[in-house]
Amino acid sequence: MQRLIFPLVIGHRGFRSQFPENTLVSFSAAIAAGADMIELDVTFSKDRKVVVVHDDTLDRTTSGSGPVYKMTLHELRQLDAGKWFDDRFSGELLPTLEETLAFAADTGARINIEIKSSAWEPNTPEDAIERRIVDMAIQKHLLENILISSFQPGFLENLAALQLHPEYALITGRTKPHDIVDVCTRLKVFSWHPHHETLKQPDIEAMHQAGIRVFPYTVNTPEDIHRLVTMGVDGIITDDPALAVSCLAPYRHARSIS
Ligand code: G3P
Ligand code: MG
Repeated sequence: MQRLIFPLVIGHRGFRSQFPENTLVSFSAAIAAGADMIELDVTFSKDRKVVVVHDDTLDRTTSGSGPVYKMTLHELRQLDAGKWFDDRFSGELLPTLEETLAFAADTGARINIEIKSSAWEPNTPEDAIERRIVDMAIQKHLLENILISSFQPGFLENLAALQLHPEYALITGRTKPHDIVDVCTRLKVFSWHPHHETLKQPDIEAMHQAGIRVFPYTVNTPEDIHRLVTMGVDGIITDDPALAVSCLAPYRHARSIS
């Protein structure tokens, strides 16, 4: 990972509070607002293309309906992924990871790619999603610009086995393992992404002692941002990167990653 300014501002699904989540317009807006990194969610389409969408189904964030895995990429690209949020975003498409990485190559944006558990395949085929992501990033010379994350530790174990050493992170939800530091240490993660309401200062200190950064999600109020940065987090994942950039300005300083 290149030299970074901490605490990082990571735009959750782009700039989700003001733009349709997980679309290129949302990613552009997050970068324009000063986000250091964009978080997005990926899974497979029916024809095993890596697509950017949060839910298992299309109903909430597109003009389509039903499970994502039942639609080919061609079918997914007929859908509108912006109008549900506001008419101004009508015509926005559900992105592929490929085109999102092209956007990252053009803008220098760093991307936190969250692999959804819906894409988990216990037999790990040659074209498993975690391998496809790494291959795509290498092809575009972007391996240093991506951080792969998941709630599913199996993806991280598979990434650890690759020779190319992509950076990856474990996400935990409203409950977390009691031995979370040991879990993260064993997985050799770059960072831990906890639900912010579960985070306690001793967890942060223990992670830091283990050389692991802490990026809680989803942190959307000035009070929570100040509370967490005072506790020592290394970045926050937020729906409102503009707010976070302004709240974090007094705390930010350059720190190299070794
Ligand atoms: O990556 C942090 C956060 O995005 C995990 O939860 O459901 O918003 O993808 P979710
Ligand atoms: Mg996510």
